[in-house]
Amino acid sequence: MREDSGGTGWTKRSRKQEADNEGDRSRTKEARRNTMTTLVVNGESRTIKASADTPLLFVLRDELGLSAAKFGCGLGQCGACTVIVDGKAIFSCVTPVMVLEGRKVTTLEGIGSRDAPGPMQRAFIEEQAAQCGYCIPGMMMRAQALLDRDPHASDESIKAELQPHLCRCGTHMRILRAIRRAADEVRSNTTVETRTRR
Ligand code: FES
Ligand code: FES
Repeated sequence: MREDSGGTGWTKRSRKQEADNEGDRSRTKEARRNTMTTLVVNGESRTIKASADTPLLFVLRDELGLSAAKFGCGLGQCGACTVIVDGKAIFSCVTPVMVLEGRKVTTLEGIGSRDAPGPMQRAFIEEQAAQCGYCIPGMMMRAQALLDRDPHASDESIKAELQPHLCRCGTHMRILRAIRRAADEVRSNTTVETRTRR
């Protein structure tokens, strides 16, 4: 018996089923392509139309023009893409944008600018902590998240926190000095603010 003769009821039913499945698949694909997600990026509400599994890193760089976070490994293994989400440092290369509806994202652009660098950026400049600079935005964002929750972080906890980050240029000691310097500034600002409030 030839199954594909085009005439039997079974063949017709199976073709219809296949067509239905194909229709479902393309509707699902379309829906995934057209997902709208609203995030608060550096204090501004941004609505993005992208496929649901698009990594946050691609949205930041390609859709929002925020290019400080870098693509290194794309696998959550180097730290170059690190940004802060609701106070926590995350790898944006492996974080699908769909899980971030309504969340607050902070990138390096959100903690200062070329004309008005924040304490972390000033400290990295003062200590000349960058060589090629590729790893530095990620390092700064994880260090920022750490100091935001603990401005008194010890050397040991700074080193432990930065474990997931790779620096091929080997500027680790300068990076550590820069984070200590930023911590000093954050602490002295906090002390001044506390004194002013009294
Ligand atoms: S690019 Fe994200 S961890 Fe390497
Ligand atoms: S400064 Fe070049 S990779 Fe860190």
